[in-house]
Amino acid sequence: MKIWAHRGCSQRYPENTLTAFEKAAEIRGLIGIELDIQLTKDGEMVVIHDEKVDRTTDGTGYVKDYTFRQLRVLQIGYGEGKPERIPTIEEVLELLTPRLKEGLKLNIELKNSVFSYRGMEEKIVELVHQKGLQKSIVYSSFSALSLERLKGLDREAELGILDRKVSDCLYKLKGGCGAVALHPHWRDMDLPAEQLKEYAVRAWFTGHLYPEKPTGTVLDLKALEEQGITDVFLNEPERYLQK
Ligand code: G3P
Ligand code: CA
Repeated sequence: MKIWAHRGCSQRYPENTLTAFEKAAEIRGLIGIELDIQLTKDGEMVVIHDEKVDRTTDGTGYVKDYTFRQLRVLQIGYGEGKPERIPTIEEVLELLTPRLKEGLKLNIELKNSVFSYRGMEEKIVELVHQKGLQKSIVYSSFSALSLERLKGLDREAELGILDRKVSDCLYKLKGGCGAVALHPHWRDMDLPAEQLKEYAVRAWFTGHLYPEKPTGTVLDLKALEEQGITDVFLNEPERYLQK
């Protein structure tokens, strides 16, 4: 089973922050790190899961209604250690470049199914190319149309299609969006493993801190593999891998 850090090491550190990514990058044996991007009012690509800043910062309202300068003032309101701010994807790429060059992968999820964030595909592809990191990136989205746009911008881009049910992921993939990997919810594996053999199947878990709570159950990775899952996005990858 291949293990990804979901929003960085987001169990112990505030999700989608430089610290959460720095800690994940220290874990040997980790296949990659997953994060989410949204666009500010002035077109900056920032790393934050929700469309709104309310849950993870001391601010309120939509990311799209903030300029980057305004957004940067907000403090990430939980966690430990040094104060955190919402990072740009460029800052994250800079932080991770040495590890990405060593083979670590980065899954950039375009959070564009609520707001389509016109131009986001062009911006992210341009930045990734500018940094020479094309081979290290897996792009994903719930929007098949967005993946199709990405493919049009970079024929070599590796794409993963998101949905809850693996059958819906497969349906979208077969629609020609260019995805080669399925990114379903772990509890929605509604197809037999034999039908999934030719794909990377990267499963995600609902919500922050679930299910890898410190006192919670440890996942049975073997049982997940038997369902055809090849990779998992975990909030607490350090629990399953040594540093
Ligand atoms: O990309 C996998 C997973 O992160 C999708 O769910 O809500 O955590 O972005 P969410
Ligand atoms: Ca995500």
